[in-house]
Amino acid sequence: MKVLVTGAAGFIGSHLCRALADQGHEVTGVDAFTDFYPRWMKESALKPLISRPGFTFLSEDLNRIDLRALLDGQDAVFHLAAQAGVRQSWGRTFETYVLNNIQNTQRLLEAARDIRPAKIVYASSSSIYGLTPDLPMKETSPVAPLSPYGVTKLAAEHLCTLYQKNYGLPVVSLRFFTVYGPGQRPDMAFHRFLKSVLEDREIVVYGDGSQTRDFTYVDDIVAACLSALVSGRDGEVYNVGGGHRERLSNVISLLEDVCGRPIRRRFEDKQKGDVPDTLADIDKARRDLGYSPRAGLRDGLSREWEWIRTLYDSGRHATQE
Ligand SMILES: NC(=O)c1ccc[n+]([C@@H]2O[C@H](COP(=O)([O-])OP(=O)(O)OC[C@H]3O[C@@H](n4cnc5c(N)ncnc54)[C@H](O)[C@@H]3O)[C@@H](O)[C@H]2O)c1
Repeated sequence: MKVLVTGAAGFIGSHLCRALADQGHEVTGVDAFTDFYPRWMKESALKPLISRPGFTFLSEDLNRIDLRALLDGQDAVFHLAAQAGVRQSWGRTFETYVLNNIQNTQRLLEAARDIRPAKIVYASSSSIYGLTPDLPMKETSPVAPLSPYGVTKLAAEHLCTLYQKNYGLPVVSLRFFTVYGPGQRPDMAFHRFLKSVLEDREIVVYGDGSQTRDFTYVDDIVAACLSALVSGRDGEVYNVGGGHRERLSNVISLLEDVCGRPIRRRFEDKQKGDVPDTLADIDKARRDLGYSPRAGLRDGLSREWEWIRTLYDSGRHATQE
């Protein structure tokens, strides 16, 4: 198939592009290199892809480019481009969230009305559940975002659903739960913690560490994306989580094992927008997508630790050049 991946230089997008190319698809990746985190990290994620036959990269902004021309000839679209990050979504930067989460999705869906790709998979988020009363969170649970980021991801997910209902677009939304692994964004907890350990600094924990998260290894997210392409039901939303939750303080103890050294912690105020707990009910994804998360937290964290060590070694060179 000819497949378009938006947000291709990002954490999850770059993994997905590699997996699609491995499956023999012809992949076009598009990314605007937004300045949320350093460009050299995204270039390093793209590096193994860029020279691969069957992979084309476009450095373009979805809010500016002619999307009909971009979609023309594509059989499927994975829409991952977004402004991520819960804590940064307050205040003036909200405008960026509106542009890169809502507006670009609406533009993409409008273009898809004309071009009609066979499948569109949208990267939604567990943040749309916010303070829902249900744990585990089910696709039918009330949505109650607690952050402006969550509101924009929910708005875009609703746009996907309503374009499916009104225009029959074959859109499937996947609600990702806290993704980790090599390539993780530098604003995310494990990346921040591991970088601090590497630099022999104390880690900063927001809140008292009692918050729980359903952590999902990036390969499991990619597997769910690939399945959604084939067996995701149009107009449906699916939770994609690791299948169980872990207390943050326990993960930090596990990180001490993985890194082989004690970790000094500094506790700071809970951040606005952070929810106390997440846990995905993944029965629907199991049933329809054959989804079954495989990664264990210890193995996944070891792989991220290995990656962090290599990244900052090569990153030092990249920033010195
Ligand atoms: N990482 C997680 O834990 C997580 C959890 C839930 C949902 N998601 C969703 O998954 C997707 C990927 O997340 P990620 O963690 O890989 O984030 P990321 O920031 O690493 O990747 C997103 C990419 O989108 C690009 N982008 C943003 N706006 C664009 C635009 N207008 N045009 C072109 N490119 C643009 C950015 O440059 C970036 O490289 C996002 O939609 C995010 O909301 C991620």
